[in-house]
This record gives sequence, C-alpha cells and structure tokens, in this order.
Amino acid sequence: MNTPSLLLDGLPVPFSVGQTIMEAATAAGIFIPHLCHHPDFKPQGSCKLCTVKANGRYVSACTMPAKDGMEVENNSPDLNDKRRTLLQMLFVEGNHFCPSCEKSGDCLLQALAYELEMLTAHFPQFYPDRPVDASHPEVLLDFNRCILCELCVRASRDVDGKNVFALSGRGIGKHLIVNAESGRLADTGFALADKAAHVCPVGVILAKRRGFLQPIGCRRYDRQPIAMQPARPLASGGNGPES
Ligand code: SF4
Ligand code: FES
Repeated sequence: MNTPSLLLDGLPVPFSVGQTIMEAATAAGIFIPHLCHHPDFKPQGSCKLCTVKANGRYVSACTMPAKDGMEVENNSPDLNDKRRTLLQMLFVEGNHFCPSCEKSGDCLLQALAYELEMLTAHFPQFYPDRPVDASHPEVLLDFNRCILCELCVRASRDVDGKNVFALSGRGIGKHLIVNAESGRLADTGFALADKAAHVCPVGVILAKRRGFLQPIGCRRYDRQPIAMQPARPLASGGNGPES
C-alpha cells in the first residue's frame, strides 16, 4: 500500500495513519505555530494558534487527523493574521512585560510573537493582579503570565501522578490554581524534578535563584527563530526553568 500523504502549502507530506496534521508536519520539518501542544501529551486544542485550513475549513492541526490527499494551508497571510490576533489577546489578558521577565528569550509566546511579526498588543491591557506564590523553596509561580495551556496540569496529573495544578473558574475568570487547601505550592508534593516544573511555555513556573543566568545572545530563541529550530520547541523538555 502506498504511504498516505497530504499537501501542506503545496508540498507533499507523508504520514502514518493515526497521525495528526501537526505530527505529520513536524516529522517533515515544517513548523506550525502552537502553544498548548506538546509532543509528550494528548492534544487538547485550546489555544487555537495551530489553526490551519484543511480542505477549505479552519481546524486545529494538533487535533485534526491527517487524511490522504488532504490539502492543508498553513503559512498564509490570512492564517498568520488570525494567529497574530490570538497572540495579541493573550498578551493583553496577562502581564507579559518581557523586559522585566526572566523567561524572555526562552518564551514560546514571545518567540511566536516575533515569528508572526506582532508589533503591538493592539487591544487595551487588562492588567491582572494575581498574587505571586513564592511559598515553595525552589519554585516561584507568577500567575499573571499564565496562558491557560494546561501543560502543567497534564504533566502533573499524567506524568508526575501528583495533580498539583488545575484550572478553575469560567470565561475571563478562568485561572490556574494549586490543589492544596491553602492554595499554596509549598503545601503540595511539588518538586523541581517534576515534569510539571519544566513544561510551562511562558514565565509562570520559575526555578528560584536561576533567573537571568543565560546571557543575552545565548537564550533559546536568540539563536534561531522558532520556525527554524531543529526540534519542536518543547520536545527536549526545554522551555522549563532549567533550560
Ligand atoms: S502555568 Fe504555564 S504550563 Fe501551566 S497552564 Fe499556565 S502557562 Fe500553561
Ligand atoms: S496547539 Fe493546537 S490548539 Fe493549541
């Protein structure tokens, strides 16, 4: 039987049955912007950054199974414009003040904003005021930068078996919580060695006493734009406090 393949921006991309569009593209070395997708976890399709047009319909590449002969549009002005708007909404909903954030240069949100040439945040800022949790001896949580991707939730639940994090509330009130009666990280079994300590794509889960260790010019996305990086941004466990 012939290997099935799809057409991605006109290029034939082979895939194995059961793979998603995202998996097929990544295996072929083609970058599809994403935030909530991580190769180690079941996709959940919440950020919508990976929206592509498959046979004329908008779909999430991370959840949509690849189909033989499917025509997929990825790197187009229309899609990148929509992705830029999604990024702008994320930037104003949180406090993403990159010049003072130690994740700058290693942040997936920031790297995508550069990649998609986002020049301003465009919308009015929300300026959330969520208290920082510095209770844990090794890790700090700055909830004001959370993009609700649920990677830490999935990592803690599915890999660490600890269920330290959860999302609570609805709509604009939706937020990340720590599963302890006190709500404090120090009152959970969380440890720096946990997978959940190393999956946050932005600057929420930060190892203490390691901020700004990496000189400017040597940070992950200083070296190469995100679309040119050889592996997926999070595939090597990068982007965590230790990366
Ligand atoms: S803390 Fe980080 S990993 Fe967890 S939901 Fe927020 S942005 Fe995602
Ligand atoms: S990466 Fe596909 S919806 Fe977030």
